[in-house]
Amino acid sequence: MTGSRSDDRPIYLDHNATTPVDPRVFKAMAPYLTSEWGNPSSNHAYGLRARAALDDARVRVAALIGARPSEIVFTGSGSEADALAIRGAVLAARAAGAARTAGAARQHVITQATEHPAVLAACRELEALHGVVVTVLPVDGAGRVDPDAVAASITPETVLVTIMHANNETGTIQPIREISAITRAHAVLLHTDAAQSVGKVTVDVHDLGVDLLTVVGHKMCAPKGVAALFVRDGVALHPLIGGGGQEHGLRAGTENVAYAVGLGRAADLAAHALADGETARLTALRDHLEERLHELLPGRVHLNGHRTERLPNTLNVRIDGAPALALLAGVASVAASAGSACHSGEDRPSPVLTAMGIPEREALTALRLSVGRWTTTAEVEQAAEDIARAARFPLPPPRGGGNVG
Ligand SMILES: Cc1ncc(COP(=O)(O)O)c(C=O)c1O
Repeated sequence: MTGSRSDDRPIYLDHNATTPVDPRVFKAMAPYLTSEWGNPSSNHAYGLRARAALDDARVRVAALIGARPSEIVFTGSGSEADALAIRGAVLAARAAGAARTAGAARQHVITQATEHPAVLAACRELEALHGVVVTVLPVDGAGRVDPDAVAASITPETVLVTIMHANNETGTIQPIREISAITRAHAVLLHTDAAQSVGKVTVDVHDLGVDLLTVVGHKMCAPKGVAALFVRDGVALHPLIGGGGQEHGLRAGTENVAYAVGLGRAADLAAHALADGETARLTALRDHLEERLHELLPGRVHLNGHRTERLPNTLNVRIDGAPALALLAGVASVAASAGSACHSGEDRPSPVLTAMGIPEREALTALRLSVGRWTTTAEVEQAAEDIARAARFPLPPPRGGGNVG
C-alpha cells in the first residue's frame, strides 16, 4: 500500500481535496479503535492511558507549528476549527465588553474574497445573527490581499481579521506576516486558515504572528474528521459547544482519541518530510507537470494564482478552449478538480477565480492539479499526456461535480 494507487484507479492529482491516509498514521490509530478504548476523563487505568495518548498527540501537533501543547484544541473538522476561531473570538469579545466603543457600536470583522466557504459562512452568520459588520477585502490578479487594505479597513470596532494562509484552489499564499504586524499594532486578533499549508511548507505560529490558526488532518495524510485550532495563550474564545468541559472548555464532547492520535502522528511525519526536503520535491513535481502541459499544448496553458508565493504542490491552470468539467470527463485516467462546479445543469465558475478578475468564460477552463506524498514523476508525465490528448480533441458534454476542498 503506497497510499496512492494500488489498483487501476486514476492517477490522483487532487491532494488539496483530500489526501490518502498514511499507513503509519493508521497504524498509530488502530490501538485506540480496538484495545485502548478508555475515556480520557476517567481516572482509572483505561482513562489514564487514553489521556496520555491525547496529551502526546497535542504535543506533536503543537511541535509542527511551533505552539505550546496547551494552545492546541482538537476539533472534528477544519470547518469547525474555523467556526470556533471566528465565532468564538467575536462572541468572547462581546461578552467581555471589548467592542471598544461602549457596547453601542457594531463589532467589525475583516476577511477576504477567496476564503474557504467555512470562513465566509462563519462571518456571514455573525453578520446575520449578531449584527457584526463584515468587510470582505478584494484580492489582486494573483489572489493576494494588500496588507495596506487591511490596515485601512481597521476601525475601533474591529475585533478580528481572518485571512487564509494558502488558498485551496490556486495555492496562493497570503502575506500573513505583514498582516500580523498590522493587527498587532492595532491590538486586533488575527486568525489564519492554514488547512492547505500545514505539512506542505513550514508553518510557525510565532513567525507568522497569528493568534488563531486552523490545521486540518485530511489535508496532511490523517483521516477526515479531525482538525485542530491553535489558540494563542491568553486569547479568549466563546465555546462552540458547551458540556463536559473538554478541550479547555472550548469544545465539549468525549475526545476522539484515535483521530487525535492520527493527527499527532501525521504531524510528526509532516515535520520529518519537511526536514527531508518535501517542499522542494513537491515543487519539482508540480513544475514538471506545468512544463509538460506547456510543451504539449503550446500557448494554451495559463497559470491561475501567484507564480512564486504559492503552495509547492498546487497547479491551477486555464487551458484555452477546454472547459474543465468536460475535459475531466474525457480523462478517466486522472482524478483532479475543475475550477468550476455544475449546478442545475449549468457550469458556474469558481468565485475564487472570478474574485481574481478572471473572466467567467476563462474561469470555466480552470483545472486544479495537486500533487502529494506518493505522486511520482511518471504519474505527472502520464497525466500531462492524457490531459493534453483530451484537450486537443472536441470535448464530450460535461458531467456534474466540480471543485472541492
Ligand atoms: C482552506 C480550507 N479551509 C477549510 C477546509 C475545511 O476543512 P474540513 O473539510 O475538515 O471541514 C478546507 C477543506 O476543504 C480547506 O481547503
